[in-house]
Amino acid sequence: MGASLNVSLMKNNIKYNGVVTKEYNSITAENAMKFDALHPAENTFSWNDADYLVSFAQANNKRVHGHTLNWYMALPSWVTNFVGDSTAWENLLKTHIQTVVTYFKGKVKSWDVVNEAFNDDGTLRNSIWVQKLGTDYIARCFQYANQADPDAILFYNDYGHEYSAAKRTAIINMITGFKNRGIPIHGIGMQFHITYTQSDANISAAINSAAATGLKVHISELDIRLNTNLALGLSLTPALAEQQAARYTFIVKTYKAIPTAQQFGITTWNVGDGDSWIPNWQGAPDWPLPFDANYLRKPAYRGIIEGGK
Ligand code: XIL
Repeated sequence: MGASLNVSLMKNNIKYNGVVTKEYNSITAENAMKFDALHPAENTFSWNDADYLVSFAQANNKRVHGHTLNWYMALPSWVTNFVGDSTAWENLLKTHIQTVVTYFKGKVKSWDVVNEAFNDDGTLRNSIWVQKLGTDYIARCFQYANQADPDAILFYNDYGHEYSAAKRTAIINMITGFKNRGIPIHGIGMQFHITYTQSDANISAAINSAAATGLKVHISELDIRLNTNLALGLSLTPALAEQQAARYTFIVKTYKAIPTAQQFGITTWNVGDGDSWIPNWQGAPDWPLPFDANYLRKPAYRGIIEGGK
């Protein structure tokens, strides 16, 4: 089990730091390894926050999963304003990936290489990378990462596998194509930012179709929203908390049924309800995580344990 971590909470909130130390054996940086955080100016890399997380992980025997080498968001303005021909853009992409992977070599043993490249209808997102480098840039990202660290486990990460068959099919087709071409890809990351109303059938289809690729499967950003109507006055009731727990159980159980060698892990996005990105993102309150705002275990925590039995 992993969680995405906020560096300032790790440094300043003793309850947060304590629960992370005790409850998880894998960590992902919530933001500290994104492009804008690591590479704020063309000739400047800024490693301090990421180093802090890596040191914490080393001191406490935890795995670090890297997130993310390439994304259409979290880009610094020097990139969005960059002027250059396709060779210059290719060099920018390659330099970023290889500098970061080389820096963390041996410490960060797996990476989300490309994040969120597809639209929900299964077409490729018309991102800055597609515009500047064409649709095959994704394959080259994997090659660049692999050249920098041949031992790193490389993931394609995205969301929506559970609600869009078109999207998950497109992702699986891309992966099959990569395998046929010898492009180094080792894992599929499924974010799973879901609602408690998501069906068993959809969750199973996402997990089992990912497993059918033969690659490692990471449920990489799990959280389970309860406020499906975005009601500003909603509060967390015991009944909702139990329904959420049951969804956590079903996900863990379904995941544990895929071959053990393919189980990379399950990572929740954030730790406690008070530090979840969801309320901000959806503009309404929510309680998507296994710990409450005081870092006490919720029914969802018990649900996870139940699913793992
Ligand atoms: C989110 C972070 O949680 C926020 O703090 C930040 O403001 C925006 O990004 N999919 C991803 C993550 O791959 O990187 C996103 O993280 C959440 C959605």
